[in-house]
Amino acid sequence: MEERVALAMITALSAARKATHLYPSAHPKYREAVDELALAVRSCVAEGPFTLNVHLGRLYQDSRVLSSDVSGAHAVAEALEAHRVESVTFGVDASEHDAITLVEVLAMRPSATLDVGEELERKGASAITIAAFVDEDAAEAEERDRLREQDRALYKRLLGVLRTLTARIQETGDPNVGEAGMVVEGILARLMDDSAAVLGLATMNGQSESSLFHSINTMIYSLVLGHELGIPEEGLTSLGVAALLHDIGKVAFDMTDPTQADEARYLHPKIGADILSRLPEQDRTPMLVAYEHHMAADGSGYPERDEGYVTHPFSRMVAIADRYDRLTTTQPEGSGMTPDKAVIQLLRDTSTLLDQTLTRLFVKALGVFPVGCVVRLTDHSVGVVCARGTDPLHPRVRLMFDTDGTKLEPERELDTAEASIGIVEIVNPENLAVTVSDHL
Ligand SMILES: [Fe+2]
Ligand SMILES: [Fe+2]
Repeated sequence: MEERVALAMITALSAARKATHLYPSAHPKYREAVDELALAVRSCVAEGPFTLNVHLGRLYQDSRVLSSDVSGAHAVAEALEAHRVESVTFGVDASEHDAITLVEVLAMRPSATLDVGEELERKGASAITIAAFVDEDAAEAEERDRLREQDRALYKRLLGVLRTLTARIQETGDPNVGEAGMVVEGILARLMDDSAAVLGLATMNGQSESSLFHSINTMIYSLVLGHELGIPEEGLTSLGVAALLHDIGKVAFDMTDPTQADEARYLHPKIGADILSRLPEQDRTPMLVAYEHHMAADGSGYPERDEGYVTHPFSRMVAIADRYDRLTTTQPEGSGMTPDKAVIQLLRDTSTLLDQTLTRLFVKALGVFPVGCVVRLTDHSVGVVCARGTDPLHPRVRLMFDTDGTKLEPERELDTAEASIGIVEIVNPENLAVTVSDHL
């Protein structure tokens, strides 16, 4: 087919679109435009289906670039792009009605709810096929938001399970680890899939139920470490359950009473181990971890132990996870450190409190800029680290503030390596009045 035929079609489409705006359908000018269009359609489909594509403001007939000098080319390309149409195919039996319906639909105001293909079908223009432009960034962002909502719902469900479990232990002293296992497995599946998303969840914190949040976050960090260490799935479940229940001994105390909270500090490992020793299951790990998680690497800590006593590796792992959560949490017992400072503190703690090899491994798993770090970039924009990047110095960042300091709505994700943008400094989220977990 000659290019001339395709160009005539474009001009006819544009003229008809103008005519629908300007004249009532009984007007001779309108009839003239429609007749032109009908003629153009017939010529175009004479040898087979005719496809018009649009890409970056240019029109193509199949893959042939069409001259943009022709009258109406710009307007047609613009109208198609505004309606997120990537291509229009006229079938061999395309009629005048089909063509004029297309023109009418393209004259409608573009909106997220207007789907040109569906609208044509609804109006009976069956011989025209539309390929919608897929905005990959938008589709990706939508998928990410969907998963994020799902993850948050999972976290809330886990809080609920743990709340019930804790209440039952408080009333009857009967631990049911089956439910705890469910909590762990829920998170574990997501961790294998997307560890950054799960680390993002661990930045969540609740004022009123801080101990429940602490338990789940300690479990998440323990699993991240266990996964990094290469522990197989069954072992991870056991580690997760142990981490989840490490502070269970605190149920015996009223933590709102300062005297009792102080007692709980030293007594909860022993009481927790007592509770967990009543588990019907064979796995003794939760009991050991509850008992040992405050025993320091240098022999200090509590409960006191004989010289030469060796703690379970899971206890040492939970001690690291427990410490990291307390360092990065603000209330009520936390230090409110930014993740980068907390990581440095963990490394310092290896001289006294924590196992050196395991701590280094945990720090490696978190990366140079751990998930949850608020960072200022070389172009002055500010965002929160949401995942590891291709290299340690270039994580993925969810941008919250634009280069000029305006709040980004919606926020967008940036691969700092791809964009060749560096990190200038780590910012304390409090200075920006930002709650990190709201942005992950
Ligand atoms: Fe504890
Ligand atoms: Fe703890």
